[in-house]
Amino acid sequence: MARTKLVAGNWKMHGSRGANQALLDALLKELGAKRNAECAVCVPYPYLEQVAARLRGTPIAWGAQSVSEHAQGAYTGEVSAAMLVEFACRYVLVGHSERRQLYGETDAQVAAKFAAAQSAGLTPILCVGETLQEREGGRTEEVVGRQLDAVLSKVNFGSAVLAYEPVWAIGTGRNATPEQAQDVHAFLRRKTGNEVRILYGGSVKAQNAAAIFAMKDVDGGLIGGASLVARDFLAIYNAAAAAGA
Ligand code: PGA
Repeated sequence: MARTKLVAGNWKMHGSRGANQALLDALLKELGAKRNAECAVCVPYPYLEQVAARLRGTPIAWGAQSVSEHAQGAYTGEVSAAMLVEFACRYVLVGHSERRQLYGETDAQVAAKFAAAQSAGLTPILCVGETLQEREGGRTEEVVGRQLDAVLSKVNFGSAVLAYEPVWAIGTGRNATPEQAQDVHAFLRRKTGNEVRILYGGSVKAQNAAAIFAMKDVDGGLIGGASLVARDFLAIYNAAAAAGA
């Protein structure tokens, strides 16, 4: 089965109303008509309204970068899946390594967030990935397998998206080689099946995107730094569209 490639931007804690406007305008100028690959941006919560207003009716989907596992209640600072639905989000990142590492999100919590997002009708993008120490210790499959199993033991993966993001490759300029990515993606594929899209993330740039996206089990990318620069993000998108053609 052909899996449509997806290129999703993760803006992290970047942006301003003005910069967002300029970035979205530049993306839409090139991405006016839907092509061979899908495109999305995951933005900070306060910008969802702006992004939804600009992207409604265009080929670019949008989403958030995290979500509460709770439906509502006394959870100061949190945002529920139902709230994201009100902003017409399609996607939400779940279990990004920065959430796991900096905010102590556990596998169980990530699984609960995944379930909350899915039952609200959002498409979770579940991020998994090993640290450098874990890779060097030969534990990559054990770690990403454990992170994925926490979700699979709780809910059906359904039409959710998986993203393999080696922690050592995020924001470091040191991407996994296409072969390293393919090896882990093949392992994840065996656990999830043929229909699930598995994105690669971690220092994807215009220069390395085509080689990574050419791998059999790489169905697109989750792009951090390069998603903030229209020319770079578009070049990565174009590489995915070409690979998916
Ligand atoms: P990067 O980030 O592209 O800046 O390495 C990827 C991510 O964290 O999703």
